[in-house]
Amino acid sequence: MAAVADRTGSDVSSRLRSGDLLHAGLAVALLLGVWSVGALEVSTGKVSTLEAMNGSTVLLPCTYSSCIGIKNLYFNWTKNGTTLCEGVTPIEGVEPKVSVYHERVDFKGSSKSNNISILLYNITFDDEGDYVCFAKNPKEKNRNHSAIFTLIVVDQMKEVDNTLTVIIVSVLGGVIGFVILFMVVKALVVRFLCKTDEKNKECLVSSGNDNTENGLSGAKGEKQGTPKA
Ligand SMILES: *[C@@H]1O[C@H](CO)[C@@H](O)[C@H](O)[C@H]1NC(C)=O
Ligand SMILES: *[C@@H]1O[C@H](CO)[C@@H](O)[C@H](O)[C@H]1NC(C)=O
Ligand SMILES: *[C@@H]1O[C@H](CO)[C@@H](O)[C@H](O)[C@H]1NC(C)=O
Ligand SMILES: *[C@@H]1O[C@H](CO)[C@@H](O)[C@H](O)[C@H]1NC(C)=O
Ligand SMILES: *[C@@H]1O[C@H](CO)[C@@H](O)[C@H](O)[C@H]1NC(C)=O
Repeated sequence: MAAVADRTGSDVSSRLRSGDLLHAGLAVALLLGVWSVGALEVSTGKVSTLEAMNGSTVLLPCTYSSCIGIKNLYFNWTKNGTTLCEGVTPIEGVEPKVSVYHERVDFKGSSKSNNISILLYNITFDDEGDYVCFAKNPKEKNRNHSAIFTLIVVDQMKEVDNTLTVIIVSVLGGVIGFVILFMVVKALVVRFLCKTDEKNKECLVSSGNDNTENGLSGAKGEKQGTPKA
């Protein structure tokens, strides 16, 4: 009995300890959060991976934000240590002075939307990899900020899969369309036959007979069915 009590006691204390740890963690996170408010933030968006086909042109997105404002914000795009493009934005709303060092890169950003995205033309398989969008705001004692965008270059083989899907979908659509057409035609034919029957004044009688027969046979079937079960 004593051992059991001890065990529950230690369980409670360990739970308390993990709760304390959680609270401490929350406090630290909160402090960090408060501390970093106003600091520059750089983001390559919610989805920072892109799969694109070789030969296509891709946008490498990046935006920054800062509550304390920017002054002579320096930014660049690098890939494996090579600078593709760099620039300095004097103050908010003023377009940056940009230097581009890559023949297939174009700066597409705008200070109006804190946008420092670049466009990469005619990608090849060598373009695959991590692109780092880097920025630092001298107002923040040159603290560095960066975000990574990953580009995956896929072969045109992947498009074959797409065409296959398209073929399957269109075949399925065709089959469904045919079934619908068939049903419509069937309904029309039945109606047409019925109308010709009506003209002969046999349709009404015969269909009435058919209905009662069906109803009777159905009722019979049910009545026959219940004793069996
Ligand atoms: C993409 O790669 C495939 C295979 O390497 C090649 O045949 C094709 O020409 C390339 N397409 C473009 C647009 O470069
Ligand atoms: C990155 O650069 C290093 C040297 O600067 C080189 O050895 C390495 O192969 C490069 N990696 C890629 C994926 O290009
Ligand atoms: C991209 O490829 C197209 C067609 O091959 C070419 O006309 C264009 O100049 C290329 N763009 C760049 C920036 O290399
Ligand atoms: C940044 O600019 C590019 C090019 O004008 C645009 O396509 C992209 O949507 C912009 N991104 C954001 C987050 O505004
Ligand atoms: C920020 O990045 C630069 C390179 O652009 C580097 O020289 C500097 O040491 C970095 N500073 C910090 C605080 O990481």
